[in-house]
Amino acid sequence: MSIDKTQQQLNDYFREKLEIHGTTAKGVDYNGEQAQQVRFAELVKVINPVNKFSVTDYGSGYGAMFEYIHARGWDFEYYGVDLIEEMVIAGREKFKAFPNAHFEVDEKKVPVADYLVAAGIFNIKLEADYDEWKAFTCETLTRMNSLCSKGFSFNMLTKYSDADRMAQRPDLYYGDPLFYFDFCKRNFSRNVALLHDYGLYDFTMIVRKDI
Ligand SMILES: C[S@@+](CC[C@H](N)C(=O)[O-])C[C@H]1O[C@@H](n2cnc3c(N)ncnc32)[C@H](O)[C@@H]1O
Repeated sequence: MSIDKTQQQLNDYFREKLEIHGTTAKGVDYNGEQAQQVRFAELVKVINPVNKFSVTDYGSGYGAMFEYIHARGWDFEYYGVDLIEEMVIAGREKFKAFPNAHFEVDEKKVPVADYLVAAGIFNIKLEADYDEWKAFTCETLTRMNSLCSKGFSFNMLTKYSDADRMAQRPDLYYGDPLFYFDFCKRNFSRNVALLHDYGLYDFTMIVRKDI
């Protein structure tokens, strides 16, 4: 199936989740809030919060990451970008009291930020071919790199789920962390950290550009 068709189906998939569960972790397809928060804790490691910073949340959903960063008490400007207009509208509504929260469908409308984080945007591939989806993730990472100046982070389900290989779902994408480490090192920065030590079947990549 083509990536465009997959993307259309994914949009319908996430739209339905939001419609059923609203602006909650389940509304962006997590099992629960704990699963979302554990992953956010890894992703924000790319950020140095000592001074005010800007961050783009790529594939933001309704902006749970805004809430997470806000709760840390950090001084920041947030740009949520999501392909799904309903997510963007939900984010604008939910955080309308916060002048530092911005949401856009079109990534061209957000300024280059200090940092970019992307939580859970590559996990579901539906019926897309493995290699086509892999190529699509690499194109997306290249765009993400161009949208930030100091660094970015993303997470992905891992192919190191051997014990449960039988349970691996064909509609999900299990990436090879070593491939992505190498890809980021070669294309984006010499300073890359692979975090695969937080007890879940996924990994987080931290790409630092300002060292
Ligand atoms: C699993 S949800 C996660 C939402 C949010 N990052 C979170 O962790 O709460 C994935 C979201 O990423 C969005 N998304 C996926 N690929 C995208 C892309 N290339 N550009 C913008 N949004 C994207 C989807 O529309 C969906 O809302």
